[in-house]
Amino acid sequence: MQTIRSITKMQKASRQLAARSKTIALVPTMGNLHEGHLSLIRCARKTADVVIVTIFVNPKQFGPKEDYKKYPRDEKNDIAKIKKAGGDIVFIPKATQIYPDDFQTYVTVEKLSQTLEGKSRPEHFRGVTTVVAKLFNITRPDVAIFGAKDFQQSKVLKQMTKDLGYPIKFVIAPTVREKDGLAMSSRNRYFTVEQRHQACCLYYALRTAREMVKSGIKDVRTIKSEMRAVIKATSPKCKIDYIAFTEFDSLKPVSKASKSTICSLAVCVHNVRLIDNMRL
Ligand code: PAJ
Repeated sequence: MQTIRSITKMQKASRQLAARSKTIALVPTMGNLHEGHLSLIRCARKTADVVIVTIFVNPKQFGPKEDYKKYPRDEKNDIAKIKKAGGDIVFIPKATQIYPDDFQTYVTVEKLSQTLEGKSRPEHFRGVTTVVAKLFNITRPDVAIFGAKDFQQSKVLKQMTKDLGYPIKFVIAPTVREKDGLAMSSRNRYFTVEQRHQACCLYYALRTAREMVKSGIKDVRTIKSEMRAVIKATSPKCKIDYIAFTEFDSLKPVSKASKSTICSLAVCVHNVRLIDNMRL
């Protein structure tokens, strides 16, 4: 496996691959890889000749009070994991390369970026779309793979891919969970054992919502109130940022839940902001 750190070298490598008619699958990440990321790499392995994984903790998608500086970084182990999961190239650019001092061009997906996470984290998606557009331009993939764990992010990026006319097949892979249901996340590392248990409150609430819908309860207000009770019973001191029921495709809010509804939520457990979602 090859490690590339310079944009010019990466551009050259991807052009050479295209010239040799090799298809490229891209898996963008911020590193500190877990099974969720590795499942995307394994999925990529099946879709193209060459798998490029990027590791870049993107400063532009973190708010001023967020954890950019302390975001866990573990490059050496990441490289070993990528190799084992079937990566061919790992691209690790520096922030100063991606965003030189005079950087001033951003990519914004308007409507889809404004709801849910976009309301709580202004400019977050602008940072995500800008960096992913840059990574697309540098690596020129045929296929790009993202996780359903960040459901809104995958929708926003899919829209960007379509709107900007990138000739890229967009794949959204399922969320990988721990045995107890907690969605895998690099931020789970911040928890002690007791806090880690409380972090399951998001999954328990989503499971409750799904069971209620299955049993015929459709009213979103009723379901939300039960979800809040489940969350508080599991993690009494947590702060619920939002619980949202939206249409799967448009992310427009719904008042009656159905099979085409996705429930998304964000909860701060011991000061760690977690997100999760489930199709009902
Ligand atoms: P990061 O949080 O490192 O996630 C990289 C990719 O892994 C994303 O597509 C994310 O949805 C997916 N992922 C994370 N946890 C997952 C899980 N438990 N199951 C399945 N997939 C999972 O998301 C980002 O980085 C950044 O915003 C990025 C797209 C790289 C742009 O900077």
